[in-house]
Amino acid sequence: MSSTFLVKGVSVLGAEPTDLLIRDGVVAEVGGDARGAQVVDAAGLVALPGLVDLHTHLREPGREDAETVESGSRAAALGGYTAVCAMANTSPVADTAGVVEQVWRLGREAGLVDVQPIGAVTVGLAGQHLAELGAMATSAAKVRIFSDDGHCVSDARLMRRALEYVKAFDGVIAQHAEEPRLTEGAQMHEGEVSARLGLTGWPAVAEEAIIARDALLAGHVGARLHVCHVSTAGSVDVIRQAKAAGVRVTAEVTPHHLLLTDERATSYDPVFKVNPPLRTKTDVAALRSALAEGLIDIVATDHAPHAVEDKECEWAYARPGMIGLETALSIVLDVLGPDWELIAERMSRTPARIAGLTEHGRTPAPGEPATFTLFDPAARWEVDPTGSASRSRNTPYAGMTLPGRIVATFLRGEPTVLDGKAVK
Ligand code: DOR
Ligand code: ZN
Repeated sequence: MSSTFLVKGVSVLGAEPTDLLIRDGVVAEVGGDARGAQVVDAAGLVALPGLVDLHTHLREPGREDAETVESGSRAAALGGYTAVCAMANTSPVADTAGVVEQVWRLGREAGLVDVQPIGAVTVGLAGQHLAELGAMATSAAKVRIFSDDGHCVSDARLMRRALEYVKAFDGVIAQHAEEPRLTEGAQMHEGEVSARLGLTGWPAVAEEAIIARDALLAGHVGARLHVCHVSTAGSVDVIRQAKAAGVRVTAEVTPHHLLLTDERATSYDPVFKVNPPLRTKTDVAALRSALAEGLIDIVATDHAPHAVEDKECEWAYARPGMIGLETALSIVLDVLGPDWELIAERMSRTPARIAGLTEHGRTPAPGEPATFTLFDPAARWEVDPTGSASRSRNTPYAGMTLPGRIVATFLRGEPTVLDGKAVK
């Protein structure tokens, strides 16, 4: 028996307040019998379709000290997510049907969000041989997105083959665009600040050159390309051209690339070390308008938890990456403003469509799956890394006061978060 909830006085995507009756995993007819329902007071709250993250590092198997499928799922639910796509750079790498099925099963057992595994493009992320893409696609995990994220598929011939292979089942290659010869030894964005600090730079062109090449390859093959964490104004120009030419390309931007700049590196605090690196004010402005315009299709977190010893060390030795599931919606609200339709499009509907997650990205209405999140736009909260549900603490927003707070999240009619707290 599933529970019944009456969500009272909620504004669905900013519309006039209404009640939502949740029964048997779906939103029931308005005016239906609400006897015995648990009442959720949602006055002042906004309902959004459950958020979908196309780019999450869960670290299981292999680095359960940094994150597990369960701890990452809990952080996701607390951030308003109902589905996350788990990146393949685990240990062992998710490059076989066995590993993607393991991650998928762990996600089901945790039961907090739908965990959709991403498969590796190449064996061991080594960039030499194609992984068993077909076996992962036909496994129980039904993998549709493949990525060597953390590494770039830099070999053009392998990239072409991967695109050809996934075209057969309408799969997607998600590329971490980084020309490796141009970023050898790189520590931060190549520019004025890196010159001042004497740190080796990661030039914008290393990203832009790969996106341009891959857009041409995807156009040639007629397959789907997704560009991970776009970080430069020049990349936006390349994507604009590719889309205008009819290439089947989608792109994501992270909350941190929408908010922070390379000036943060002057603190030498490795919490700001990330790959691709934080860029300039000009890049941030270009990314914001590309996201508003839809040239950049979605926001994805690149939630990258790291253990204390991998982060609290000298800048040069620190691993790149920052956690971001619990703060993403607040950062996007800060950057885009309270445009709920736009936020639903960029953080739920479009990522669900790219990943083929048909039960997600649907606005709560009678007959629809009760998979949504309730958000208080008036709340403000201070980010406390020790309060995170993630096993890691590497948030760049520690001590910052952010707007907006998740109050509840429902997955197929069952709450995963209530009163701002995880239910299990
Ligand atoms: O900063 C990053 N961290 N970028 C990546 O591409 C990989 C990720 C990780 O796995 O830590
Ligand atoms: Zn990446």
